[in-house]
Amino acid sequence: MEKIAIYPGSFDPVTNGHIDIIERGLLIFDRIIVTILENPAKSLLFSLEERVDLLSESLKHLPNVEIDSYYGLLVDYARMRNAHAILRGMRAVSDFEYEFQMALMNRKLERDIQTVFLMTGLRWIFTSSSIIKEAARFGGDIESMVPEIVRKKLEEKFNVKINNRNG
Ligand code: PNS
Repeated sequence: MEKIAIYPGSFDPVTNGHIDIIERGLLIFDRIIVTILENPAKSLLFSLEERVDLLSESLKHLPNVEIDSYYGLLVDYARMRNAHAILRGMRAVSDFEYEFQMALMNRKLERDIQTVFLMTGLRWIFTSSSIIKEAARFGGDIESMVPEIVRKKLEEKFNVKINNRNG
């Protein structure tokens, strides 16, 4: 049976840290469905359409990856797509509490779907969409943390030039 995982998130925008987790996930799963879901706690910079486009462009080199979006509960979506695993990346200890809570809630809602955590690569341990947006807003150098297309889109959104201060 094909092993399918859902990799859910806000992806506002996709970062190299997300891509790293998807690449690691493909070593375990036959197929990964990258799904944009609603996180009510977050205010967004990019529209759903923009986020789908950025993901599609950034992941086009990877086989067996699909991009989708869903409005509703993650476990309902996972069941609908016949996935038995939810893939999440774990960075520092600060991620743990939120991830633990979400994984336990998802298990309570649907016992048959397992959450699988992968440690992010050390290079991406401090990379998050929020911190990238904050730095990019003022032209900070986030070039090595996001795909080129995301850097361009951030420049457009904030109407800034993102400078490479180290190179
Ligand atoms: O990238 P994020 O914002 O950390 O991802 C969080 C996300 C979107 C995966 C989470 O908020 C989510 O699963 N939202 C859909 C609603 C849901 O099922 N929530 C979890 C159980 S209450």
